[in-house]
Amino acid sequence: MTEPSSVCPVDHKALAAAKADDGLQKVVAVTGASRGIGHAIVKTFHEHGWEVLTLARTPFSTVCPWAEGIVKHIEADLSDEVAVKDSIVRLQERLGDRPLHALVNNAGISPKGEDGARLGATKTTAEVLNQVMMVNLIAPMLLTNGLIDHIKMAKGAVVNVSSIAGFRIHPFAGAAYATSKAALSALTRELAYDLGESGVRVNSVAPGEIETSILSPGTEEIVERQVPMKRMGSPEEVAEVVHFLCSDASSYVNGTEIHINGGQHI
Ligand SMILES: NC(=O)c1ccc[n+]([C@@H]2O[C@H](COP(=O)([O-])OP(=O)(O)OC[C@H]3O[C@@H](n4cnc5c(N)ncnc54)[C@H](OP(=O)(O)O)[C@@H]3O)[C@@H](O)[C@H]2O)c1
Repeated sequence: MTEPSSVCPVDHKALAAAKADDGLQKVVAVTGASRGIGHAIVKTFHEHGWEVLTLARTPFSTVCPWAEGIVKHIEADLSDEVAVKDSIVRLQERLGDRPLHALVNNAGISPKGEDGARLGATKTTAEVLNQVMMVNLIAPMLLTNGLIDHIKMAKGAVVNVSSIAGFRIHPFAGAAYATSKAALSALTRELAYDLGESGVRVNSVAPGEIETSILSPGTEEIVERQVPMKRMGSPEEVAEVVHFLCSDASSYVNGTEIHINGGQHI
């Protein structure tokens, strides 16, 4: 048995110094920021004092609570590869020689069949699959690659917003969406492996039933049947976890996926 040391093995002073605010405002870029989970992420980071660069197809909401939101917003369609590359250039211009402390790949689409029906594998066209892959998978990879020099400068974090549909059948999600999200989870692992040595962490969050416009009618019934907590999640509950994954509080969390679903996956 080893003798208990009279000296604490943890260098608390060094830890405190490492955590101390260095006076620089951190910068985050968030896609799909115009509504739903993305909008909650924007508000949460803003409340924590971050500078927030946003991207979506639509203009920034005029009811947003901060004036600079409008000038820091980029309108771009992530289903178009040229537009993705153009938005990388525009984000680089906004950053100049500054680091990017976090990139949140949140934008996502979930196509439906006729009358909002689940778009199963046998009904999915190559065109739909390509479009969904572009927004949900390829754009996150291109954005990460395109901004990586800035992210490395900050030893920053990337968070991909995947989904419970990426690892189990979902009554409404469908094949294109599910395969794109499964691939996004795999991309998270791959990027975490490739970038770990540079100090950049890459993780994902996999929401379940979160109250936004992406949900289909009938979600209440799924919640009743599958979610032990018997309620939907709020966009803010996802945003808090995303913020945690971008903060120093998660400094040794890498290559993982956090389920935010009230226990739906168990
Ligand atoms: N809500 C849920 O229960 C749930 C569950 C699991 C996973 N998720 C994931 O969480 C993320 C956010 O979902 P949400 O529920 O907040 O959905 P939402 O309310 O439909 O918001 C989607 C966001 O993505 C943006 N977007 C969509 N297509 C785009 C495109 N082609 N180019 C650029 N931006 C685009 C939208 O902005 P514009 O329309 O202005 O472009 C919007 O800001 C998605 O990745 C989704 O798959 C959600």
